[in-house]
Amino acid sequence: MKQFVQELEARRAKARLGGGQARIEAQHARGKLTARERIELLLDANSFEEFDMFVEHRNTDFDTDKNRFPGDGVVTGWGTINGRMVYVFAKDFTVLGGSTSEWHAQKICKIQDMAMQNGAPCIGLFDSGGARIQEGVGSLAAYGEVFKRNVLASGVVPQLSVIMGPCAGGDVYSPAMTDFIFMVRDTSYMFITGPDVVKTVTHEDVTPEQLGGAKVHSTKSSVADGAYDNDVICLEEMRRLYDFLPLNNRDKPPHWPTQDDPRREEMSLDTLVPENPNKPYDMKELILKVADEGDFFEIGENFAKNIITGFGRIEGSTVGFVANQPMVLAGVLDSDASRKAARFVRFCDCFNIPLVTFVDVPGFLPGLAQEHGGIIKHGAKLLFAFTEATVPKVTVITRKAYGGAYDVMASKHMRADVNYAWPSAQIAVMGAKGAVEIIFRNERGNPDAIAERTKEYEDRFLNPFIAAQRGYIDDVIRPHSTRWRVARALRMLKNKQVAQVWKKHDNIPL
Ligand code: HXC
Repeated sequence: MKQFVQELEARRAKARLGGGQARIEAQHARGKLTARERIELLLDANSFEEFDMFVEHRNTDFDTDKNRFPGDGVVTGWGTINGRMVYVFAKDFTVLGGSTSEWHAQKICKIQDMAMQNGAPCIGLFDSGGARIQEGVGSLAAYGEVFKRNVLASGVVPQLSVIMGPCAGGDVYSPAMTDFIFMVRDTSYMFITGPDVVKTVTHEDVTPEQLGGAKVHSTKSSVADGAYDNDVICLEEMRRLYDFLPLNNRDKPPHWPTQDDPRREEMSLDTLVPENPNKPYDMKELILKVADEGDFFEIGENFAKNIITGFGRIEGSTVGFVANQPMVLAGVLDSDASRKAARFVRFCDCFNIPLVTFVDVPGFLPGLAQEHGGIIKHGAKLLFAFTEATVPKVTVITRKAYGGAYDVMASKHMRADVNYAWPSAQIAVMGAKGAVEIIFRNERGNPDAIAERTKEYEDRFLNPFIAAQRGYIDDVIRPHSTRWRVARALRMLKNKQVAQVWKKHDNIPL
């Protein structure tokens, strides 16, 4: 027996070395951890159980039979994060650049199947040169199997992708179909074709960083939902995010003990909204003061900053916050903001996470660029997402709720359950200046008359009470009591059920 055990341990040791010590050192020299080191940081200590450590590719073309490594460039298995089960795969760049062979992909598929069957999320750590070039169509078919499972698992279990090195070619489309993508700054990049191909096809000279670095994807393309400075911080943040997520679509949001009294009053909120309605204020302050212990995990922090999306907790349970940000473009809704928030709302709805929406929106952004960029369709995405969502929805209007954007931002008409307004709320078709300029066009040359008309419009419409008279607002609440009122509303909605008309699926304006 002893010799069998020795052989087992020798094989294990070999597998753990991946592509060998020299390549591990090269990986470290680039500021990157190895696949196994990453898994160790992501999961609870000693919780990882590895599968398929001894799988090798069976390819022979281009002498590849002389280049076999146990594990075939991906480490797969399951473990726990703060005691909650999770499936994980991590591409091992030290083995043939973490490239995807048929057998490599089969390992990932096994994990995806288990995640779906057993109802736990799947996290993929990417560091790969794409399809195993020597392999041809086998690798393409294998990618297809991974993509298929990404689609089938969508809305069944949360899927997270973390890009921690190159992620090229076929490798980008699996993350693209998962719920969230996070990247590591300076060491990771994602693109469908690299700088050389770009140069040949479009004659553009670009570096990998310019083409698909973490900055590009987290600020411009919105492919990534966040970026972190290094592997360690990134994995710590993934653990933090995981604590907010339900395990599957039949699970309730996780509940964590909290010392934060739901009745906590925040007197400073009574003066958050400035006297001057055109002055900005930081909506994040409201989120942080309402959420348990001010703990907020932001999604898409550096993209479309005019809307804030992210997870917090109320009375220990996860909620999704969506909020206009008056500090950026006055909190206006544009195409990017609409897309960003729509996707977030749909994630929350898939996984039973109640939505808390804070509204201060002057409308949709007008202009050629927006119209030509398809704001009609992009804005409709958010309208659609909020309306179809059946999770508990609580909305608080802090200041402006103008025009179509009022409807969109989880208004009563879009099936929100509880709609509150602060006394400073202004629910109207538009702001006073724009309204008076249109209605009283004939009096434009008379500043006194315009001032009088403006005052008249402000007094009549720029308050929450006309909407409250119609029941579109359930109550006008004092800002300092917002946390408690939201908490109570969520308690009341705990067992919400909505009867749905049968349909195969909807047709959200993509
Ligand atoms: C096989 C690969 C590989 C690949 C890298 N390697 N990519 N082996 N297939 N796709 C191997 C290298 O031969 C090398 O092996 C080791 O991984 C490290 O690679 P280096 O090039 O030395 O590393 P680096 O300089 O850091 O460059 C990393 C890289 C580069 C940018 C990822 O390797 C690269 O451009 N690779 C090819 C990317 C690509 O075009 N992929 C195919 C995409 S097509 P040794 O033995 O020296 O350690 C695709 C289509 C699928 O994916 C579509 C599906 C729908």
